[in-house]
Amino acid sequence: MPVAPSIKESMASSSFIRKMFEEGIQLKAQYGADNVYDFSIGNPDLEPPAKVHAVLAEIAASPEKGLHAYMPNPGYKETREAMAKKTSAEQGVPVDFSHIVMAVGAAGAMNSVFKAVLSPGDEVAVPAPFFAEYTHYARNHGASLKQIPTKEDFSLDFDAIASALTEKTSVFIINSPNNPTGKIYTAAEIAGLAAVLESHRVKTGKTVVLVADEPYRDIVYDNRAVSPVFPHWPATVVVTSFAKNLSLPGERIGFAAVNPACPDAKDMLDAIIFSTRVLGFVNAPAIFQRVVAKCWNEPVDYSLYAARREKLAAVLDAAGIEYFLPEGAFYLFCKVPAPREAAHTAGSDGEFCDHMKKHRILGVPGTGFGKKGWFRLAFCAPMRSIELSAEAFKAARASW
Ligand SMILES: Cc1ncc(COP(=O)(O)O)c(C=O)c1O
Repeated sequence: MPVAPSIKESMASSSFIRKMFEEGIQLKAQYGADNVYDFSIGNPDLEPPAKVHAVLAEIAASPEKGLHAYMPNPGYKETREAMAKKTSAEQGVPVDFSHIVMAVGAAGAMNSVFKAVLSPGDEVAVPAPFFAEYTHYARNHGASLKQIPTKEDFSLDFDAIASALTEKTSVFIINSPNNPTGKIYTAAEIAGLAAVLESHRVKTGKTVVLVADEPYRDIVYDNRAVSPVFPHWPATVVVTSFAKNLSLPGERIGFAAVNPACPDAKDMLDAIIFSTRVLGFVNAPAIFQRVVAKCWNEPVDYSLYAARREKLAAVLDAAGIEYFLPEGAFYLFCKVPAPREAAHTAGSDGEFCDHMKKHRILGVPGTGFGKKGWFRLAFCAPMRSIELSAEAFKAARASW
């Protein structure tokens, strides 16, 4: 059957993480799981809080009728009220349930928002490095992704942003904490970004919609906090999920929250709700809407991620590999070391990841995230695996 050339092309350019995942399975079959150091995929390995199972059991035993029925497209009112409470606390401004649309994960939420605001030929701007799927989410709606370089410490470069915005720019994505760097943007950076968007609006008459992608908001280190975005830019939509903070990625449960300060918030909400329907999501999964309504503020101990961050950083220090110490999320973004062997190409992240594979270490080349010369290690991997990887990293560095 004929496959659209555009999909063939997108598939060919985006298979790098999946390829790594499949090679990991092959290597584990060959050498045993303990002897392969798989840092390729951001699949949280903490178990969800016990309350998730208790609420699921309660729902399964409930005599209530219609638990599996269609519902209003934006979701159950009770769930939206809970999400509004959560968003109000995070954004520091009151948010009503009517500003919440339940979604099929953060990815589903972003696609509903993109469908609501993007027209063919539009541009979606994003600071690089960035979550690679954004390229495809923009393309889904006839738009293209415009990468904007960040500074050396991955902070926002306002001059670069100002010169990248055009009359075609409809959306700016901000992802904090960031995948792949773990960078958290400061309040001053968010305010600075809003100032750039405002001067663009004054110059061109065009209001850029700020989409804040926040699935890692709760996973932070050294007592950091993620700054709110609503107080800075009215035309903001937060998209998020419970994939990472409650370890529920397979359940596909998230939501979009529209800033109440947005002058045409009602139009935007109606458009996101309609888009959720016509994209074929119809509504977010029913059972997990009920679960997150009761579990959204369950305390989770992320100290295991913090301990792994310390351990992996120590392993890399010992091997002589430089990295950006993440402020949140569970990724360590590392610099490809300078080669000592003439056979290797300086700064080639693809070549270095292939080289690490010979030492049974799986990481992901930075090029796919829009940052050549770097690679990403996901540390939602067992502590034992991180400890055991120390010698492999040293050997990989020494022979590069
Ligand atoms: C930055 C970022 N945004 C969105 C997503 C998608 O999240 P979800 O599984 O909730 O759709 C991910 C998943 O890894 C991510 O890293």
